[in-house]
Amino acid sequence: MEGPGRALILGIETSCDETAAALVTDDGEIRANVVSSQADLHARYGGVVPEVASRRHLELVAPVVREALGEADATLDDVDRIAVTQGPGLIGALLVGLSAAKAIAWSRRLPLVPVDHLRGHVASLYLRPDPLEPPFLCLLASGGHTLLLDVRGYDDEHVLGTTLDDAAGEAFDKGARLLGLGYPGGRELDRLAREGDPAAYDFPVARVPGLDFSFSGLKTALLYATRDLSPEQLQARRADLAASYQRAIVRALVARVREAAEQSGARRVAVVGGVAANSELRASLPDAALAPLPLCTDNAAMIASAARFAHRLSYPAYLGLDAYASR
Ligand code: KG4
Ligand code: ZN
Repeated sequence: MEGPGRALILGIETSCDETAAALVTDDGEIRANVVSSQADLHARYGGVVPEVASRRHLELVAPVVREALGEADATLDDVDRIAVTQGPGLIGALLVGLSAAKAIAWSRRLPLVPVDHLRGHVASLYLRPDPLEPPFLCLLASGGHTLLLDVRGYDDEHVLGTTLDDAAGEAFDKGARLLGLGYPGGRELDRLAREGDPAAYDFPVARVPGLDFSFSGLKTALLYATRDLSPEQLQARRADLAASYQRAIVRALVARVREAAEQSGARRVAVVGGVAANSELRASLPDAALAPLPLCTDNAAMIASAARFAHRLSYPAYLGLDAYASR
């Protein structure tokens, strides 16, 4: 189609329960972004079953890559490097994406760029049409992580704070479960909270030293508030409970972001990760750079985006790469 300018990065992401492929240009334009969620498959178990996830990734990864190429009106001839999530995540799930990426790169003799999933989330901010430039202070809040990062450069960030127990998304998911909402529960809880009174319950959030977070006590407080209610009472109070619980999580996140911004003197604040999709959190940080909604939860465009700033491994150096479960 186009001439020499058409050098696309093919991104592949399979760290948890989303099988995703994307095509992104070197200057950060998304040409295709396909996400196939397995959420329905895991819903009946109330959480992701790793072995089930790996098997599903195996079925989906090739069709999802093909669909992304179709969406971009491209072929593998237009791809000049393969980007893939190397970790952290579910090891079996990661290995499916990594093996697929190696196979494609090997068959075309293309370079491969292993990407850290958390850097990928941050790189969701570097895409067009509204790319952000470091430095900035970044809250990364997802199902597996809650981090405050001092992002100094595209491949240079320092952890200022982290959760001592549950991640913010995990707190949303566990709260949603106690309220009888489906899995994953963050989005459902967000929706239900809009119908409730956030001042109905006063849920405490533990204040831990420094810039760290703690959410496990909050979940226990919700458990205590719900366990003595009859099913009818729970039904009647569900929206209030959701609104109050969400308010507590959002307040804790926002308070830490503000403290960190003050301490680090950051002029710009950004929010990424699945929890960045939360409507109350977004409204509570009106001046922050927020990851675009479709790029908050796991996707491969952010992985391809991160690859723009990362070291590429040429053939055959990447064939021995292994995935990692945690950082
Ligand atoms: O980034 P992500 O897709 O996966 C991980 O890397 O963990 O984040 C998923 C998390 C889940 O815990 C989900 O419940 C939460 O993000 N989430 C939300 C919302 N949408 C997704 N939490 C609160 N409000 C939302 N609207
Ligand atoms: Zn993620």
